[in-house]
Amino acid sequence: MKRFQYLCASAVLSLLLSGCSSPHGQPQGDPEAVAPSQVSDFATLYSQNCAGCHGAQGRGGAAIALANPVYLDIVDEASMRKVIANGIHGTSMSAFDQSAGGMLTDKQIHVITSGILSNWSRKGILDGSNPPSYAANTAGNAGHGELVYRTYCAFCHGQGGQGGPKGSAITNDSFLALVSDQELRTIVIAGRPELGAPDWRGNVPGKPMTNLEITDVVAWLASRRVQNPGQPYSASNYAQH
Ligand code: HEC
Ligand code: HEC
Repeated sequence: MKRFQYLCASAVLSLLLSGCSSPHGQPQGDPEAVAPSQVSDFATLYSQNCAGCHGAQGRGGAAIALANPVYLDIVDEASMRKVIANGIHGTSMSAFDQSAGGMLTDKQIHVITSGILSNWSRKGILDGSNPPSYAANTAGNAGHGELVYRTYCAFCHGQGGQGGPKGSAITNDSFLALVSDQELRTIVIAGRPELGAPDWRGNVPGKPMTNLEITDVVAWLASRRVQNPGQPYSASNYAQH
């Protein structure tokens, strides 16, 4: 009897070692384990790839909330999918599609994109409010943008964007260096409601920003990025060391 058990055990062992432990075509190992490229449900894909930056339920993370119905009403699915697939150069938003060096298949990118829209959109939320376009359609005028800033933003973010009682500094290079122009536009349009930042209608109550004002204020912010390279660690700071 002992010897029989030993034979059984060694037969199994040699099957394992020879790599053909599934003589009848049954799945090997833990039947619950799914290869990463086969994961196909939104909740798992989102929590494994996105929640760390965008928050567990699409909000409350360091990066912009995706579960913002105003954002989801303005962005089109193709633009969102492109960002997720290809990432945003120069920011921590990396490319997720295998074709762009990421880990996810086309199908998984699709599951995530449509899952974000179907789980977190709220139909009709912008009905009647003539929303601005997601992407800018002109280059923008930074000079006019500075005036726009004074009207709609300065009382929260301070003179010149240095920070104020109701909003953080947004013209310092440490912030501007890591954020794209589109992201600035997205924030101005959709706000960051979970942090108390208003959307384009709420800065000055009863006076929604126009598409052009949004484009121009972003052009002004972007111009601050170019004019203050390296601040606050400018060349003169380094010269002292
Ligand atoms: C390491 C942090 C990080 C991870 C992980 C991450 N993101 Fe991002 N994401 C960012 C940052 C930062 C931005 C803003 C980049 C910029 O300045 O344009 C961003 C931007 C975006 C945008 C564009 C928002 C807009 O303005 O239209 C989308 C959509 C997005 N992320 C979706 C995702 C999805 C989906 C995942 C998971 C597959 C993901 N992100 C994972 C950091 C991250
Ligand atoms: C009622 C006050 C208020 C107004 C008006 C306002 N903001 Fe904000 N804004 C906030 C708050 C609060 C946040 C989130 C917390 C923070 O960064 O201070 C924020 C966040 C931001 C951010 C992201 C900062 C970051 O660190 O992620 C940008 C960019 C921004 N606002 C730009 C603007 C611009 C441009 C305007 C004018 C068109 C504007 N805001 C108007 C209160 C305001």
